[in-house]
Amino acid sequence: MRVAEILAVSEALERALALLRDGDVVAIPTETVYGLAGDATNGIGVARIFETKGRPRFNPLIAHVADMAMAERIALFDPLSKKLALAFWPGPLTLVLPQRTGNGIHPLVTAGLDTIALRMPRGFGGELIARLGRPLAAPSANSSGKISATTAQAVAADLGARIKLVVDGGATPVGLESTIVKAEGERLRLLRPGGIAAEDIEAAIGMELLRGGAAGVEAPGMLASHYAPDAAMRLNAGTVGEGEALLGFGIRRAEGWRHAAAFLNLSETGDLREAASNLFAYMQVLDSSGARIIAVEPVPFDGLGEAINDRLSRAASPRDNILAAT
Ligand code: TXA
Ligand code: MG
Repeated sequence: MRVAEILAVSEALERALALLRDGDVVAIPTETVYGLAGDATNGIGVARIFETKGRPRFNPLIAHVADMAMAERIALFDPLSKKLALAFWPGPLTLVLPQRTGNGIHPLVTAGLDTIALRMPRGFGGELIARLGRPLAAPSANSSGKISATTAQAVAADLGARIKLVVDGGATPVGLESTIVKAEGERLRLLRPGGIAAEDIEAAIGMELLRGGAAGVEAPGMLASHYAPDAAMRLNAGTVGEGEALLGFGIRRAEGWRHAAAFLNLSETGDLREAASNLFAYMQVLDSSGARIIAVEPVPFDGLGEAINDRLSRAASPRDNILAAT
């Protein structure tokens, strides 16, 4: 069995460029989670992303850009989206915008939609895109339906037999995928809570975000089962049952916590940023402890808590809807 090479960011750039120019995929660190990147203008590269993840092709990908000029060659910015791009890029924000015609993006990236999701990542990804001179399509670097990878080792364990290179940038600092917003008339709609708190976006535009509803099946990856561990998840647990593992938050413990089959605390001090950065790795560790149920203590909904609760409830939702997962 072939196993992916793991190279540190300091030595990976040329090898990554060669693979991308060859229409191949590369796993790269971003500030949110690891991405499985391919040249967004190359149909073979994009098709390989879907194949490698086992991702349904109706679920569109985010195109990652190096700078504002590249973004504006791809999509049309309304004033609010432009304001957000200037305020939060590079960073964990994805904007869904109308595509500019003839932008060179392969239609597989957008699953044929006339809109496109754009993001400018921080760090290695940005450098790689600038050197390539073309946008990179990159979903989270995990098999479809699994928890997003936040370390190079997690990527290699999941996709290592199917890809040639994992670029190792250490643990991703944010730990949650980007926040996705979409322009809708004069307003913006929150399609996915993520690494930038909705409150921070609302403060930047001086307006509330629209939520729920209209997005519908438009972002198929946003529906139902997602980030699924093998164990069942039991949320807002006030007690720990026989044989259950416990995912904690803050200083107050669920009753019976000493008997938990395994225990990890997302943040002892109740810091939501710390909790976000630990979430996927800790879910993975508790999952591999062999416990059949992971009980999860309540996590508040403010700030990044909205995105944390979103990922937890997806992980807890019934698994028969696997087609909808990314
Ligand atoms: O932080 C992130 O966003 C990471 C890193 C690698 O950048 N990427 C990521 O990609 O989470 P992915 O593919 O796992 O999630 C992208 C989401 C999917 O739910 C997809 O349905 C939605 O974005 N999406 C993509 N294009 C869209 C569009 N044109 N309209 C609405 N939703 C879209
Ligand atoms: Mg994903």
